[in-house]
Amino acid sequence: YVIGVDLGTSAVKILLMNQHGDVCHEVSKSYPLIQEKSGYSEQDPEEWVEKTVQGLTDIVKNFDGDIENIEGISFSGQMHGLVLLDEYHHVLRNAILWNDTRTTKECRLIEEKVGIDKLLKITKNPALEGFTLPKLLWVKENEPEIFAKAAVFLLPKDYLRYRLTGLIHSEYSDAAGTLLLDVSEKKWSKEICDSLGIDVNLCPPLVASHTQTGTITNEIAVETGLSETVKVFAGGADNACGAIGSGILSAGKTLCSIGTSGVVLSYEEKGNQDFQGKVHYFNHGEADAFYTMGVTLAAGYSLSWFKDVFAEAEDFDALLQDIDQVPIGSNGLLFTPYLVGERTPHADSNIRGSFIGMDASHKRSDFVRAVLEGITFSLNESIEIFRENGKKIETIISIGGGAKNRQWLQMQADIFNVDIVTLASEQGPGMGAAMLASYGCGWFDSLQECAQKFVHLVDTYQPIKENVDMYSKLFPLYQ
Ligand code: XUL
Repeated sequence: YVIGVDLGTSAVKILLMNQHGDVCHEVSKSYPLIQEKSGYSEQDPEEWVEKTVQGLTDIVKNFDGDIENIEGISFSGQMHGLVLLDEYHHVLRNAILWNDTRTTKECRLIEEKVGIDKLLKITKNPALEGFTLPKLLWVKENEPEIFAKAAVFLLPKDYLRYRLTGLIHSEYSDAAGTLLLDVSEKKWSKEICDSLGIDVNLCPPLVASHTQTGTITNEIAVETGLSETVKVFAGGADNACGAIGSGILSAGKTLCSIGTSGVVLSYEEKGNQDFQGKVHYFNHGEADAFYTMGVTLAAGYSLSWFKDVFAEAEDFDALLQDIDQVPIGSNGLLFTPYLVGERTPHADSNIRGSFIGMDASHKRSDFVRAVLEGITFSLNESIEIFRENGKKIETIISIGGGAKNRQWLQMQADIFNVDIVTLASEQGPGMGAAMLASYGCGWFDSLQECAQKFVHLVDTYQPIKENVDMYSKLFPLYQ
């Protein structure tokens, strides 16, 4: 057995999987966001550790086999978050998360000091508020007494792993989202650090996602009931793990994952293609591979925002049940999902959402459909960038909240004009983490071999020509 831990934004999800790729048990424990000011988004790393330990304890309680048979554990985590530690490895402040947008000034500073061309050449990505380096510079500027004590920074799941093993590491797929990594060379960029007065020693040692970084500590073994021999593997960024867990492990494969954020992600064999920074370009969790990715910041979040504000008492199924009664185009209502700014394609943390074209005849179901169409149009903007750069996209695997509703899946097929494929046991990033552990344990010779056993496609939604035509007329209006 192996365990995959997905340290998400709203909860930690833990999966126990066997050698056949079956999910034997899963638990989820939620924790809050701390939003002190508009644009701020933080979490207390201690909550991640507490909830993970509780979740692991639940997994062990439910397990009736020999505990030594749980061989490995690995991680997937929300990307970009900054966890700052002092020389004793104590947390210096709350973690600043990927969806925190306080760092516009720092992004401009990075562009000025490093230069946009050099930044794109080394990190493959532009300076965006969500990434880690701007957060580090924000603390340096605004909390100098805290920054002075910083000895190392970690990404969220790397901190969690540190607490389970006592050892400090990061790995390439998450390091790529810091804006401090030379993505093609797979090493921290001293040049970028020097340009911004950051000591390169603040960056943790790097390993590959399937590398064993240690075993759990005696204390964690006692607390959870896991065996002290359980091997701990580095793991990856949640999007990299989502890709692994969906079998996005060769050129031509593309994923659409709708969670709090929504991403369209495409496998890249090489680390030197030029997308001019229009989409993110990161290291994959598979060694020496890469992926490109467009991000809609408020994808599932737009829908949950709508539910919380206008339909608090209902669940998502009830909210979505009438959308097929509403025609394509939501009777003239358009929604743009920029509730917290946007990454792709606007790279603008000040842009805001809108409902356009409201009239007195609109019902709530028009609004709900407009929200789904707006989220999906936004993701289509990323697909357009891929296509403009010469990618042929004919099939997309859809996972996450967006894959839980048949109408929404058909909408994705019609708006993206591709076959949308769903997975049998859709576990996304947690599954990717478990697969990294199983590969690390030596159960398989490659992640691809593991995917053949763990990842099974079930349904296909084909684009319906008439719908494709209607959406392709609405899309420029949305843009
Ligand atoms: C990706 C990003 C989000 C988080 C969500 O760049 O910021 O998808 O990884 O956990």
